[in-house]
Amino acid sequence: MSLQSIILHFDFLFLILYILPTPLYSLFFISSGAGPRSTWLYSTPSLCYTTPMNYYENEVIATQFLDFLKSTNGTIQQEILLKYLLPRLPINGDATILDAACGNGWLSGALALKYHDVQAFDSSPTLIKAGQQKFPDITFIIANASGELPYRPEQFDCVILNMAAHDLENQPKAFENFYKLLKPEGKLLVTMANPYYSYPVGIWKRGWIGAILRRKPQLKIRPYNWFRNLANRSFQWNKKMTSLFYPLSEHVTNIISSGFILTAYQDLQTENDSQKFNATYQLNRFPILLLLEFKKPSK
Ligand SMILES: C[S@@+](CC[C@H](N)C(=O)[O-])C[C@H]1O[C@@H](n2cnc3c(N)ncnc32)[C@H](O)[C@@H]1O
Repeated sequence: MSLQSIILHFDFLFLILYILPTPLYSLFFISSGAGPRSTWLYSTPSLCYTTPMNYYENEVIATQFLDFLKSTNGTIQQEILLKYLLPRLPINGDATILDAACGNGWLSGALALKYHDVQAFDSSPTLIKAGQQKFPDITFIIANASGELPYRPEQFDCVILNMAAHDLENQPKAFENFYKLLKPEGKLLVTMANPYYSYPVGIWKRGWIGAILRRKPQLKIRPYNWFRNLANRSFQWNKKMTSLFYPLSEHVTNIISSGFILTAYQDLQTENDSQKFNATYQLNRFPILLLLEFKKPSK
């Protein structure tokens, strides 16, 4: 084969693979509401345009989450969160604490070792049942953070919303509820995956060549503004589990709009590093968890 025919051959391949299907790619992105973009960048995560809801109310998904909590990643995440939350909690063991959207109540269980009055609620029946079984002395309630909550106004010294802000469909209403439930000077502690770095903006990838060469996955950051413009902000972590993308500015705005004052902002770090967990990078191994502390002002 001459050099010229090799070049022609590649030109032909280029035409077939890239040029001809371009209108099809554009059609795909326009129809998905994403607008024409380069395909490799936007092929993951799978964005869905269904009505958002709390997916943990589905038993299969709740069970998947319970499995995550039991996994190495889940255990490390819990250790990090606890390590940073504990010093920010009231020193007095008589303080009343609400673990909002508590999941299976692992945090409530840890807090009950120090505090006499720990209350917990979540809208997932499967997760609440798991909590009740594991910690029978704690009162777990099935309730929606944005609905009517079965607590008294100003009942709590501290409300914790741990890793659940990105699952709340109606954040303004939930934060309004938490505000009412807190005593003046009470604290709201919110932890979350940093929206600037974590999925769906950030994704750990090493590709198949990297897998063969046993390279470490690299963090790829995709354009943040694209995700903030999602039609209904819903994205999928995997085939089933769905969460909602809130830009960090919107999380904070929704909280302070209820009357809270931001009093602390912290990146959470772990010593469990990538050397030990070489090829299984997860967000909890990196300083991309955030803790935000808010105060309800005195009357
Ligand atoms: C990522 S899990 C975190 C659970 C727990 N806080 C933890 O640290 O393990 C998110 C939780 O938010 C709960 N959730 C989502 N929307 C909710 C809502 N509107 N009201 C109450 N719980 C909600 C889910 O059922 C799920 O348990």
